[in-house]
Amino acid sequence: MTNKLADDIKEILYDEKDIANKVQELADKINADYKDGLVAIGILKGSIPFMADLIRKIDVPLVMDFMDVTSYEGTTSSGEVRILKDLSTRIEGKDVLIIEDIIDTGITLSYLTEVLKSRGVKSLKLCTLLTKPSRRSEKIKVDYVGYEIEDNFVVGYGMDYNENYRNLPYIGILDEKVYK
Ligand code: IMP
Ligand code: MG
Repeated sequence: MTNKLADDIKEILYDEKDIANKVQELADKINADYKDGLVAIGILKGSIPFMADLIRKIDVPLVMDFMDVTSYEGTTSSGEVRILKDLSTRIEGKDVLIIEDIIDTGITLSYLTEVLKSRGVKSLKLCTLLTKPSRRSEKIKVDYVGYEIEDNFVVGYGMDYNENYRNLPYIGILDEKVYK
């Protein structure tokens, strides 16, 4: 990793303007679907920029909460999901929307949806900014998808490589030189 974050990015996939347009597009759908409001659950830490932008485009009643889970070491999933931080609000009887940065194998979200469903939610849907369909090993239904991408390791706009690059305002492909 160099001092200049941009030097480690091989290609910019989506710039700030692309992302802003996509966030508005997703918010329009959510506003239309959740007239009575929702509980938005952001998955830490990757969803933070997306969640912050998205909720400000949502104009129905919204409660936000966060969960922190992990299954990753470096660039690959360990396959085992652990809850590091649980919700601080009750979601029983609520319309719940999980907000994720990116879905890769689907292991994280298939585990999380089971956990949250078991708490007696009224409804549970998933929203992700990015998805890598070619990498999916678990069958999950994603209700709101920003972009489908190829199997590249991406960083920025919340997404990290070993906790770095989350603060990049755009989404880019990380240069292999950083992890090879
Ligand atoms: P899954 O359980 O394999 O679907 O992995 C989902 C989580 O892995 C995401 O919430 C991200 O935190 C992380 N992840 C997966 N792919 C990438 C990537 O390309 N860049 C950064 N993080 C990723
Ligand atoms: Mg994540």
